[in-house]
Amino acid sequence: MTVTHPSRKRRIRTYLLCPPERYVVEYAINPWMDPSTPVDTELALKQWAGLRETLVGLGHTVHLLAPESGLPDMVFAANGAFSVDGVVYGARFRHPQRTGEEAVHRAFYESGSWRFAAPSWTNEGEGDFVYLPRAAGGLILAGYGYRTDPRAHLEVAEVLGRPVVSLRLVDPRFYHLDTALAALDDENVVYYPGAFSASAQQVLRQLFPDAVLATEEDALAFGVNLVSDGRHVVLNAAATGLAAQLSRHGYLPVPVELGELRKGGGSVKCCVAELRR
Ligand code: ARG
Repeated sequence: MTVTHPSRKRRIRTYLLCPPERYVVEYAINPWMDPSTPVDTELALKQWAGLRETLVGLGHTVHLLAPESGLPDMVFAANGAFSVDGVVYGARFRHPQRTGEEAVHRAFYESGSWRFAAPSWTNEGEGDFVYLPRAAGGLILAGYGYRTDPRAHLEVAEVLGRPVVSLRLVDPRFYHLDTALAALDDENVVYYPGAFSASAQQVLRQLFPDAVLATEEDALAFGVNLVSDGRHVVLNAAATGLAAQLSRHGYLPVPVELGELRKGGGSVKCCVAELRR
């Protein structure tokens, strides 16, 4: 029996997703990608539709970005920008294969009433930035080591006017912060310690004494690459251990099958950008 914590409250969110209509693995820019393994685009679309329906079913609003040819990683919409309180810090991709996505995301925000700040430094949006609105009055956690340039951490602090805590990633399998750490609610996180440098682990222990710690097995199953509304935690169905752990902490795990996206090096969170007005 699962007993949910009475204080685990859902906050309604707005998300941006992009259907994997053009999703293939034709280049390798992270250790999960192997161009010799075929991708079933139909299956990826079906699984992604399940994710979209899950988010909508939980009461959230989902906006869609139209996929463009030649940009197979567009399904990983989290990487396109990072927004807080109506201000958007745009992405600047590390690899040339993805730079074409920058303008698509920028156009989305510029057609709405967002204030868009173009970045001077390489950063991959919510792949490496996590926002906790009620930690220290609004705290940004920022990853570096593989994709985002730490100079972007200073820039995002300037653009968004929030404290930024830099965390060094040290395991190439966890090349984006969101593969190893996620917000569970407005102030707490789940993370896999082994993805971080010893000093970053110390920082995380100090900031989040009540964090949920994921095992390597669940992290490798992309379990930590999750989307939570504060109560419901949408996560990869393969991460069964983490789902049980989250239940014990009073959250409601909502498993989704997203195995085909793993071939691109991503799962739930990679597919979802949160739009914070
Ligand atoms: N193939 C993509 C890349 O390597 C996957 C991005 C995953 N996105 C994420 N937010 N972790 O850039």
